[in-house]
Amino acid sequence: MSYFEIIGGKKLNGEIEVRGAKNAALKAVAAALLSREKWTITNFPFIEDTNRILEMVENLGVKVARGSNQVEIQAKSIQKNSLDKNLTKKLRASIILAGPMLARTGKVEMYHPGGCVIGRRPIDMFLDGFQKFGAKIKWQDGHFRMSAAKLAGAKIFFPKITVTGTETMMIAAVLAEGETILENAAMEPEIPALADFLNKCGAKITGAGTPIIRIKGIGRNGKIRGGKMELIPDRIETGTFAILGAICGGKIKIKKCNPNHVRAFLVNLSKAGVKFEEKKNELVIWGAKSLKAINVSTHEYPGFATDLQPPFTLLMTQAKGSSLIHDSIFDGRLIFTDILNTMGSRITMNDPHRVTVNGPTDLHGKKIASPDLRAGITLVLAGLIAKRKTKIENIYQIDRGYERIEERLRKLGAEIKRIQK
Ligand code: EPZ
Repeated sequence: MSYFEIIGGKKLNGEIEVRGAKNAALKAVAAALLSREKWTITNFPFIEDTNRILEMVENLGVKVARGSNQVEIQAKSIQKNSLDKNLTKKLRASIILAGPMLARTGKVEMYHPGGCVIGRRPIDMFLDGFQKFGAKIKWQDGHFRMSAAKLAGAKIFFPKITVTGTETMMIAAVLAEGETILENAAMEPEIPALADFLNKCGAKITGAGTPIIRIKGIGRNGKIRGGKMELIPDRIETGTFAILGAICGGKIKIKKCNPNHVRAFLVNLSKAGVKFEEKKNELVIWGAKSLKAINVSTHEYPGFATDLQPPFTLLMTQAKGSSLIHDSIFDGRLIFTDILNTMGSRITMNDPHRVTVNGPTDLHGKKIASPDLRAGITLVLAGLIAKRKTKIENIYQIDRGYERIEERLRKLGAEIKRIQK
């Protein structure tokens, strides 16, 4: 297993390009299974999560051709109905494949998906949605089988806003018979981006990006054409690199991003005293001389993204005053603050959803391990400002979402090495 070794305290300057959105790539691969023709997905990030989902679809007999920053997928036929257990356990988003598989073949067998330990990750809304489409579901020790002669359009109300739940039902509904209405749907930008492309290929989706999405199903034998889809920039990489600039800059230019997709985050960054300039696809961030402690609460899009809570919490350890951070969405996404406290921060957990950060505090390097993807990148940022050396293990979690991150940080002047054990 490899680990990162970081020597903190360097001022960083230069340019860093944002990759295609991880959470758009995973759903585009799933949606490609609706078509018998070739989908070319460009601006495609080759990271561990996307590697895993490509392996899963290859296991189903789907043709996959990897390019430098694109992938071609052609699901002429889907030869298997079961998803590989080990791969499913590594990737919570594997549940998204159940939608198009059920729609295309009428059968799916899979284990409960794994993924981040950021809290309970139930799949009740997925199973409820599949049942509303007419699927029969059998559970057997953590393994479930679903079958449906055909999917019937349904009215599905999500009691909680679910991003992948919305996407999975939207994708499945494309090949259902009749109209599906999704209510209390998620509005993350990846959703209208996917709907727009599916419509170019023959789907009939309206309302994506609003709380009510309508899909006129074209039936299992309906034709979804192939085509070329460019993924939107990764808004979580964008926010992460903005925090990097605020705590380690010099001056960092973030390229190939879309500032409109991180508006709530930028409003809070500005309130905290970070100076930045935005252009259509760029953000320039200057290192903050002093930061103001502010309160932040995460919220479904267009609110402050929960995936940006961990790096923002780190930013608040460098701010003057007391800040209340509330992650309203997950009940396990603040546990990583214990690790920051071993590096010198003063963070008190009030309850599983809230911490109080008192700053500013100097951080010192430690031997630590990434608990999950977004906490993992936050620990990298912490190492970059901590005194002396930080060693981060379990960096598979970081490689899940950030392509060749150490190379990209070194280009900015960071002292970070990937060391094979
Ligand atoms: C997506 O996860 C993202 N993952 C997450 O990013 C992101 O944190 C999350 O949305 C919220 O923005 C992908 O897109 C692959 P949810 P998802 O369903 O869809 C509860 C990352 O770091 N819930 O919107 O799985 C759930 O427990 C990842 O890239 C149910 O109760 O999240 C949570 O409390 C981490 N039952 C809330 O809904 C269900 O059936 C929102 O979760 C489904 C979800």
